[in-house]
Amino acid sequence: MQANPELQTFLKECQDQVKRALDHWLPAATIIPEQLHAAMRYSVLGGGKHVRPLLVYATGMALVGNTQQLDGAACATELIHAYSLVHDDLPAMDDDDLRRGQPTCHKQYNEATAILVGDALQTLAFRVLCKDKSMPISAETRLEMIQTLATASGSRGMAGGQALDLAAEGQELNLAEREHLYIHKTGALIRASVALGALATEQSDDALTQKLDHYAKCIGLAFQVRDDILDIEGNTETLGKTQGKDQAQLKSTYPALLGLQGARDTAEQLLTEALDSLSGMDAKADPLRWIANYIVGRSY
Ligand code: IPE
Ligand code: IPE
Ligand code: MG
Ligand code: MG
Ligand code: MG
Repeated sequence: MQANPELQTFLKECQDQVKRALDHWLPAATIIPEQLHAAMRYSVLGGGKHVRPLLVYATGMALVGNTQQLDGAACATELIHAYSLVHDDLPAMDDDDLRRGQPTCHKQYNEATAILVGDALQTLAFRVLCKDKSMPISAETRLEMIQTLATASGSRGMAGGQALDLAAEGQELNLAEREHLYIHKTGALIRASVALGALATEQSDDALTQKLDHYAKCIGLAFQVRDDILDIEGNTETLGKTQGKDQAQLKSTYPALLGLQGARDTAEQLLTEALDSLSGMDAKADPLRWIANYIVGRSY
């Protein structure tokens, strides 16, 4: 984690806030089926940076100056994200044993449980968006949030990007194809997190919403470029996941295409573009600025 003390404080507050809300929504491990519920809690509450909830909260800060009334949106994005990681690690996908410094869900439990954990977390995300009482929003806004998250998660979003990623193993994708893939597999949920944060505030300034969306697009791509760089220059202990997986699985990542320095330059350019799209927004948008810097500079 970087040493920006303001980011540290914001991060800690948001993490505590979303973890409390997630703990509330996840069924207790004592409720039948106990193993499934235990595995869901293991996969959601076992760590992670909570970047997507952070973006929900930071967007709320930027628009209305507080992070109240955003827990439902924050939880929903983290639940989809956690599900995507559980499935991403399965033997049929990236076949990883380590996640957030712990055995992956299918290693700790078993493959069938990990598949069901993903199914259940995904549906729980939409249950939260339907039922969360902390969001005093109209039914129409709620529907728009549900449809935004559904599109971002499905075949036209994250799941579609994951399909392209698997199909690309051992193939030489060009940069435009890789960008298209990343905008979907990782970018779509990051973009949806900002969109959900904005929707939950029920502000209807279209120009501002477009600026925020462009910011989100840039950092979404930058997030995956940094993930690729860390797969090469990070180490397993700090990352909490196995270093060197991309090369082992013959993925034509950004560093594979552009070299490490080229990938770093791309991430920096995306950071500049993201920050530019916030120009004109006041200091309430600073958390969004800190997060953008953090995404590009992070060490895990
Ligand atoms: C990892 O996401 C998967 C990608 C989309 C690159 P994160 O780096 O946000 O994972 P956690 O939640 O912090 O563990
Ligand atoms: C995963 O990308 C993106 C998801 C939608 C989960 P990666 O496969 O690169 O993520 P890590 O490196 O395993 O976290
Ligand atoms: Mg993967
Ligand atoms: Mg993976
Ligand atoms: Mg990766």
